[in-house]
Amino acid sequence: MSPTEQPDPVNIPSVQEERAKYGEEKPRAKDTARLIWASKPRKEPNPKDLEFQTAEEVYPNVADARDRTLSAYTTNGRKISEQPNRLIWGDNLLVMQALLAQGYEGQIDLIYIDPPFNTGENFNFDNAVKIGNSMYEKELPLNERLAYTDTWSRGIDSFLDMIYPRLQLMQRMLSDRGSIYVHCDYRMNSYIRILMDEIFGKENFQNEISWIRSLPHGNITMGYGRNHDIILFYTKGKNPIYNQQFIPHRKEYLEQFYRFVENDRRYRLISCINPNKNRPNLTYEWKGVKKVWKYSRERMEEMDKQGLLVYSSTGTPQYKAFLDTMKGVAVQDTWVDIPPVMGSSLENEEYPTQKPEALLERIFKASSNEDSLVADFFCGSGTTGSVAENLGRHWILSDVSKTAIQVTRSRLVNQNSKPFIIENLGNYQRQLIYAKEVNLRQMYSIILNLYGAVSRSDMQGFGISKEDKNTLVFVCEPDRAMTAKKAIDLAKLANTVDGKGYKKLVILAWDYDYEFDDAFARMKKNLGKVMSDVDCKIIPSDVYKYLRNTKVGDPDLANKITFYQKPYIRIGEPEIISRDGKSVGVKIRIDQYVIMDIPVKDESKRPDIEKCLAKNFAYLIDYWTVDWNYNGDVFRSQWQAIRDRRGDDPVPVLAETTLERGKLYTIAVRVVDVFGNDASGTKEIDLR
Ligand SMILES: C[S@@+](CC[C@H](N)C(=O)[O-])C[C@H]1O[C@@H](n2cnc3c(N)ncnc32)[C@H](O)[C@@H]1O
Repeated sequence: MSPTEQPDPVNIPSVQEERAKYGEEKPRAKDTARLIWASKPRKEPNPKDLEFQTAEEVYPNVADARDRTLSAYTTNGRKISEQPNRLIWGDNLLVMQALLAQGYEGQIDLIYIDPPFNTGENFNFDNAVKIGNSMYEKELPLNERLAYTDTWSRGIDSFLDMIYPRLQLMQRMLSDRGSIYVHCDYRMNSYIRILMDEIFGKENFQNEISWIRSLPHGNITMGYGRNHDIILFYTKGKNPIYNQQFIPHRKEYLEQFYRFVENDRRYRLISCINPNKNRPNLTYEWKGVKKVWKYSRERMEEMDKQGLLVYSSTGTPQYKAFLDTMKGVAVQDTWVDIPPVMGSSLENEEYPTQKPEALLERIFKASSNEDSLVADFFCGSGTTGSVAENLGRHWILSDVSKTAIQVTRSRLVNQNSKPFIIENLGNYQRQLIYAKEVNLRQMYSIILNLYGAVSRSDMQGFGISKEDKNTLVFVCEPDRAMTAKKAIDLAKLANTVDGKGYKKLVILAWDYDYEFDDAFARMKKNLGKVMSDVDCKIIPSDVYKYLRNTKVGDPDLANKITFYQKPYIRIGEPEIISRDGKSVGVKIRIDQYVIMDIPVKDESKRPDIEKCLAKNFAYLIDYWTVDWNYNGDVFRSQWQAIRDRRGDDPVPVLAETTLERGKLYTIAVRVVDVFGNDASGTKEIDLR
């Protein structure tokens, strides 16, 4: 068996069996110890040529958008170092496989990860949402709930199944001078450490850092208070980037050793006598005293000239070491000087497992250089991105939770970061549907069934609602955004089909066109009664998971999949507010934003929320953003309003800018609400 092959865990021979087979003489192997569990994968995951979709280019600084466009930098063949910073929504296994296929092997100098650790129910996933001045618990999308069960349903085994292939991919992505820091605690550290020895080599283990994250706990009846997290630090090889970090000396130490003061500068006296008596070239006479000195004659002369030598009554010199010329104490592996994120601290993003920036700052300064590429594939609230920005590092972040992506996006925009792109692997999920055993016809019928409709054999993609025979249901093709024109055509068809027509048409679509609401309302106005009522719903991402699980999906999941109504957005006509030489001041506003289905856990709270939203719909908006010159392809965010997560105020609904005359502009608006839904719309303004 080669060293990388895993023994079959079920067939590991017992010690007795081994002895019976080989006697006591079996040659003893060295360093073969490995962590084994029943479902340990035998093969490393491979790179996968998956396409990232750019959901948005974000320009927190308008000037950056004028200078250049990020899309110009994402084209194939660009060097990794020239690629923009990337925030990727998706499962990090696929994300890393796709990055490897894009040439990220050996490119990352530093990876910090803080994976979920088993803290029982509701761990890590942020399901609190603030509307007005009250907090509510939202119903999490199924894919996030499933990520939880995927990771913990079989206890430690499923956690190891999750983390092992991901660590293997990270090892490949690290540069020759790269390092990885894995944040964990007493629950998982022993398992992860053994896995990391296997993957990174135990010779590349550097430290097990203890971060004291809280004050001592009171009320402990058994054992000792657990108040530290563990950070495992490994390097890729023998020559990593490492910049020693220092912290100031403790006060008591200063008082004891730096006792002297000169012109407000503290200093201590250090003996110039060398404890090693066997140094012939440091043995000489200095001002009448012959000794073995610590310093060369030239150095002594230099120090003497600078007045740094103090002489005793016998003429023996001591060296004045000023505190302000010392670096401090080299940081050791127990970190007691970094407090956790406090409720009142400015960096608090209200993300339950958020780590302090100071912690990551220390790691980044030690194990990366300016311009290094750093990554965090479990980015949560984006602490890694924020610190990387402050320290001038390039970054890649990913998270499976949409809330995490929203929080990270807002955090980076608020700190005026460099431009970055938001991507997802949406296409891949859909490709899976095609590539897997499910063909298109089956897929339509499964989705209709999940929605509660019986599919029609005579019309592909159509079904009749089981609850209401007067409702026709239509499923849109994957990879196609539903356009207003298509919806109108379908509604006209629904009005006449089967002779009698149907009162209502439900459209189930993966995506809706950018200008859907506006165009639909316009077209509908001219049609009068020749079409059925239309209800536009979104096929949730949960469905991918359902289709992937088994050939016919997992019946248990079926009841948990909800098709929410597409949010409705109405954007006011853009207005000219000023004219000046070559440019024109323009404003645009959101007139209305509505979601019909509010995914709140406790149904009894719904009327409160509805009352609050009736006062001001903007309480629902997490952020909204404008592309003043939309090219019909990639959305470039050049203006944004972000909700203050801690404040009670809604976002403003009006945006203003200055545009150059001489062009017909398409202004695109994108709204993301507190539940993670997004909606968009476009308006034209003619400045020719
Ligand atoms: C402990 S939190 C990270 C907190 C982060 N260090 C911070 O400072 O905010 C773990 C994160 O991992 C994410 N996560 C869990 N499983 C994942 C997966 N398979 N792919 C990507 N992200 C995942 C969760 O959504 C969560 O945001």
